[in-house]
Amino acid sequence: MRISEFFFIIFVTSNFLCVVKGSSHNHAGSNSSRGRHHWVGPTGLRLITVDINGFGDFRSVQAAVDSVPESNRKNVLILISAGRYIEKVVVPASKPYITFEGAGRDVTVIEWHDRASDKGPDGQQLRTYHTASVAVFAPFFTARNISFKNTAPAPQPGMQGWQAVALRISGDKAFFSGCAFYGAQDTLCDDAGRHFFKDCYIEGSIDFIFGNGRSMYKSCELHSIATRFGSIAAQDRKSPDEKTGFAFVNCSVTGSGPLYVGRAMGKYSRIVFSYTYFDDVVAHGGWDDWDHQGNNKTAFFGVYKCYGPGAAALRRVSWAQELDFDAAHPFLAKSFVNGRHWISPSDA
Ligand SMILES: *[C@@H]1O[C@H](CO)[C@@H](O)[C@H](O)[C@H]1NC(C)=O
Ligand SMILES: *[C@@H]1O[C@H](CO)[C@@H](O)[C@H](O)[C@H]1NC(C)=O
Ligand SMILES: *[C@@H]1O[C@H](CO)[C@@H](O)[C@H](O)[C@H]1NC(C)=O
Ligand SMILES: *[C@@H]1O[C@H](CO)[C@@H](O)[C@H](O)[C@H]1NC(C)=O
Repeated sequence: MRISEFFFIIFVTSNFLCVVKGSSHNHAGSNSSRGRHHWVGPTGLRLITVDINGFGDFRSVQAAVDSVPESNRKNVLILISAGRYIEKVVVPASKPYITFEGAGRDVTVIEWHDRASDKGPDGQQLRTYHTASVAVFAPFFTARNISFKNTAPAPQPGMQGWQAVALRISGDKAFFSGCAFYGAQDTLCDDAGRHFFKDCYIEGSIDFIFGNGRSMYKSCELHSIATRFGSIAAQDRKSPDEKTGFAFVNCSVTGSGPLYVGRAMGKYSRIVFSYTYFDDVVAHGGWDDWDHQGNNKTAFFGVYKCYGPGAAALRRVSWAQELDFDAAHPFLAKSFVNGRHWISPSDA
């Protein structure tokens, strides 16, 4: 075991201890007030190695996931050696606390190539959400230093059915650090739950981060490969009661354009960019109402202290706001995803 692995194991184990504390201080009749959860975190650690050349416990990532029992209650660290793992992977909802750790995002890659119009086993079109190379339904999923790819070719503008997801995250409390996501249309399906992405690289062309997650993207590079027109984030908040939204903090936007930076996939879409650098790739007007009349009044699009040659173009529509500190504040820290209870201070 390398020294770094040793420290990592200590960390995974300690990450959940704080949550247990305080459960004995429960007020009668209240089991859900902040910091007083009845929920008890996982105990113990299981280490599984995956190596494509056969020097690990398994040769495929899915085989490693399959070996984790249902209703898993241990931290499971799956170390994945360098290699291209050409397989479709599903982490089912019944298997929480799994970590995928690669040997570096440039060398450990999980990839597949489904498109929305491809036929599934039942002869029906897969549709976007089922194209994910890796789909995670479990809570408390973590990935570090690994890449997720969908290698289907990029569509030309106007082509239908070429949505091709690299990673779909539908589980609550997921943490991604040092990861990369490669695709074209609909690369990262940030579907549902609270998520934190740190130091990640996300590449695509159209709506390449989309869904109804409640997520913070911190210090990430958002890289467009759009040829004639593209868009970064399409957020699907459907009602004012939902707490979902995408908060980008200290990110950088690079690549080719012109790009919309946000689109109102849901009527009450929320997208905020703070302290973010925009290269000269932003389309005039910057934001898009998804052609739904009235979305431009109900969507919440904001920028706070953004900069770079593309930043000015974001301020030219009346329904995207230049936020002041008070308005931006909820979108600046991990509290946006209730991170105090599930993300360690050293991680965010
Ligand atoms: C505990 O809290 C959960 C979530 O708020 C709630 O669904 C459940 O009914 C509560 N249980 C008790 C015994 O109060
Ligand atoms: C991930 O990669 C970064 C940069 O190469 C490195 O500093 C870090 O220690 C790695 N993390 C893990 C958990 O291996
Ligand atoms: C902002 O992002 C850059 C580049 O990813 C990183 O080097 C820097 O540490 C980040 N700053 C903060 C305050 O997170
Ligand atoms: C909102 O969209 C409608 C319909 O597309 C348009 O007529 C109106 O000018 C837009 N309002 C703003 C403030 O952009």
